[in-house]
Amino acid sequence: MATIAAPRPTAPRRRFIPFVGETLAYFHDPLRTLDFHYREFGPVSKINFVGRPWTVLLGPDACEIALRNADKAFANAGGWGYLIGPFFDRGLMLLDFEEHHHHRRILQEAFTRDRIADYTSTLGPAITSGLDAWPTGPEFRAYPTLKDLTLDLATQIFMGGADVADADELTRVNQAFMDCVQAGLGFVRANVPGTRWRRGLRGRRVLEEFFSRHIPARRAGSGTDLFSALCHIETDDGQRLTDDDVVNHMIFLLMAAHDTSTITVTTMMQQLGQYPEWQARCRAESEALPLHPSLDEIDTLTSLDLVMKECLRLVPPVPGLARQTVKDTEVLGHHIPAGRRVTVGVHLSHHMPELFPDPERFDPERFADDRREDKVHRYAWQPFGGGVHKCIGLYFGTVEVKMVVHQLLRRFEWTVDPDYVPPMNYHSLPFPKDGLPVDLRPLSLGSAE
Ligand code: HEM
Repeated sequence: MATIAAPRPTAPRRRFIPFVGETLAYFHDPLRTLDFHYREFGPVSKINFVGRPWTVLLGPDACEIALRNADKAFANAGGWGYLIGPFFDRGLMLLDFEEHHHHRRILQEAFTRDRIADYTSTLGPAITSGLDAWPTGPEFRAYPTLKDLTLDLATQIFMGGADVADADELTRVNQAFMDCVQAGLGFVRANVPGTRWRRGLRGRRVLEEFFSRHIPARRAGSGTDLFSALCHIETDDGQRLTDDDVVNHMIFLLMAAHDTSTITVTTMMQQLGQYPEWQARCRAESEALPLHPSLDEIDTLTSLDLVMKECLRLVPPVPGLARQTVKDTEVLGHHIPAGRRVTVGVHLSHHMPELFPDPERFDPERFADDRREDKVHRYAWQPFGGGVHKCIGLYFGTVEVKMVVHQLLRRFEWTVDPDYVPPMNYHSLPFPKDGLPVDLRPLSLGSAE
């Protein structure tokens, strides 16, 4: 494996406006900001982000050191905890070391292939009925429509459908969940009236009350949704989740699954709309499968797999991973003191020409067996993270995204202006501010089995 950048002796710092620092520059154009840091200062530098100094690790060598975390210097609680802690308290990603290991072992039982087959058996029909309600035409906005769809899917798969609550309650729960997601990256980080922070805290209470109230029925029942699974899973040596654990993990899992899948499908719709030859190629594979394919059948969608990987490269839904050092450490010759917040900038690696030639070009074949550009470095392509915190929902999320796009390909054809460049919002996870305008047309083939 090649070493990509030469280490530098100190972690230099760029001058910036007090308090808001480079946050605004980052929100405006994260890649440019990070690329500037990397080219100017090397793989380890400092940045001022949402009111605090952060060390920023860029390039695959620096990212690898933090994510592999061999000397256990990097912890998630103080990193992610600073950004989203009050709203996603004790979610798996916010736990560390022994405690994280303990919870991850139990949660792994909810992500076995058999369990995922159970979840996805309800997914296919739920996607079909969601798409039945989609408007078509030149004014279609992909992102908000997909966001609603994936939230409905989460209700079906995560919570076992409408039996959990009536429609009003679901609306309230969905709003509470959105408020939690939005809360993390506001500039005001205190319980002040009218702020995202306050709405997030209120949302967290609504979600806690909601899930706690439904636990007894889930423990007693035999549902195959994720909520029921968390109530029943047990490791070989008898470890189970407490009621509080189930609540905390459910709230985090909803968040972890929702925006990430929405963003991935949005990028796929954009690229497939701009590259009709890829849309046709993926559709041909989808038409060879039933409308509701099995997990094995989904694995045969090879063109869709290439497209998904390329979209995750271009727009990783989690562009930077947050950590905090729990002891003094060193990365590529740079000293990082204990207590420093650190961001692991996987996004930039995805756009480095040293790793991915002509990086801004949509070129799914770069992931084909005869090229595998992602193999140039183990940490070149990390949309799901790496090390012990690597996404536990990687397979499930991949299946969900492919099942949605598979059905889109069988029901619709769509175009996106070939010159369109999405105006991205990076305030929380990335999304196109204009909702991604798409000309969506029903396909005469329809949704026949
Ligand atoms: C395309 C979809 C997805 C992407 C791109 C994605 C990305 C990520 C990334 C980058 C991390 C690592 C964060 C870090 O190390 O700081 C992560 C962790 C995690 N993800 Fe995903 N994710 C996706 C879907 C899902 C789904 C569907 C679920 C659950 C159903 C999920 C659950 C989790 C959990 C629980 C963690 C924390 C793991 C741990 O700390 O041990 N994700 N995800």
